[in-house]
Amino acid sequence: MTQRIATLTVDGTSTEFPVMSPTHGNDVVDIRSLGARTGLFTYDSGFMSTASCRSKIAYIDGDKGELLYRGYPIEQLAEQCNFLEVTYLLKHGELPNASQKSEFEDTIKNHTMVHEQLVKFYQGFRRDAHPMAVMVGVVGALSAFYHDAMDNNNPEHRSISFNRLVAKMPTIVALAYKYSMGQPFMYPRNDLDYTANFMRMMFGTPCEEYKPNPVLVHALDVIFTLHADHEQNASTSTVRLAGSSGANPFACIAAGIACLWGPAHGGANEACLNMLEEIGDVSRVGEFVKRAKDKNDGFKLMGFGHRVYKNYDPRAKLMGKVCNDVLTELGLENDRLFKLAKELEKIALEDDYFIEKKLYPNVDFYSGIVQKALGIPTSMFTCIFALARTVGWMSQWEEMISDPEYKIGRPRQLYVGAARRDVPPMAKR
Ligand code: SDX
Repeated sequence: MTQRIATLTVDGTSTEFPVMSPTHGNDVVDIRSLGARTGLFTYDSGFMSTASCRSKIAYIDGDKGELLYRGYPIEQLAEQCNFLEVTYLLKHGELPNASQKSEFEDTIKNHTMVHEQLVKFYQGFRRDAHPMAVMVGVVGALSAFYHDAMDNNNPEHRSISFNRLVAKMPTIVALAYKYSMGQPFMYPRNDLDYTANFMRMMFGTPCEEYKPNPVLVHALDVIFTLHADHEQNASTSTVRLAGSSGANPFACIAAGIACLWGPAHGGANEACLNMLEEIGDVSRVGEFVKRAKDKNDGFKLMGFGHRVYKNYDPRAKLMGKVCNDVLTELGLENDRLFKLAKELEKIALEDDYFIEKKLYPNVDFYSGIVQKALGIPTSMFTCIFALARTVGWMSQWEEMISDPEYKIGRPRQLYVGAARRDVPPMAKR
């Protein structure tokens, strides 16, 4: 196939750049030599049209509303695989066979405990600290515990870090919850699978045997799968940029957690549930939709809109189904917030403003309702997101570090500050 060329002509001078074609998605113009050859930079605040890397991990078709993990549609993975199988897929690029799955489960199981000294970090936080603040601190602190396997250039060390983080995140999240509740910490159990183990650490107490409800365990497992990876979103790009300097992987994940916390990103599920509580009743939905359309009102409908999806986020559809299953299992079919959310979705999707701007429910829209029904407090919703997204962050970090082309990320800028000037003496300031 002949190499396609993009030509940039500025002041009569033309410069040619190769066009690269992906497996799926938009062609890209390779402009890496633009600065050196033309003295020009591109300007793309918010990276609306910038491919920051090459990746084989996830692909989103925003127009079709499609999400693939290593080529497999999210709907099929959510239906046919559990979260640890999906974790293996994102890490290795292929789904595990039976023996690989069993071996991987055992490997993860044997890393679920955290160092007893790490547990002491929780004591340093106020009881009412936001759990995401605790997560940033404690996950960052892991970088002080693991020096025995920290050569980023050693694939074995990178694999151990991947397994340690995936295994310990449920324990760390559950510890943050128990600390906020003033309840005793629950140690992981090796006779439970990954998600049941997490639910026992969250909701079990030493006072009685905790029996995980298999329907609820499956629902949470699907929620983890839906949140595992999502191309170069803000928090993944944060992990990649931090990791590009060769930083400790645990510190890079702490940076990703900090970014995910924002209400425009992973914090939207918490914000969405708070918004539904504020709306309170179907009769007030119109008032909030009106506010969301008002340019002078900074209010946005949390859980709606997406930088890439200009159709329905496939994860929101699956999350809506999980939500239904959980509410039915718990006899909460008439849950007030769920009915309110369904009505809000219906009204918004029929509104010209949302149709014109292609604003659909995203992964965060139903996630808060189902997590609340599972007994997870609102402040913990983004911790659950971070638990699952650690798999994507570490897979993307591994892909970057092992890419021979990777360099430290160092964007340039459009400088619009003061022109060069001399410092005046104090008397003349
Ligand atoms: C996640 O990137 C990822 O992949 C993220 C994520 C992942 O898995 O990693 O999918 C997870 O972060 C999902 C998004 C969760 N955030 C929210 O639900 C918060 C509410 N949504 C918005 O903040 C917004 O839609 C974003 C941040 C999600 C997307 O913002 P963009 O791409 O920068 O788009 P924009 O803000 O420029 O919106 C385009 C227009 C604007 O109007 P105009 O300036 O063109 O007139 O749509 C409007 C916006 O005002 N708009 C909304 C809206 N979202 C966008 N108006 C009302 N309510 C909203 N929710």
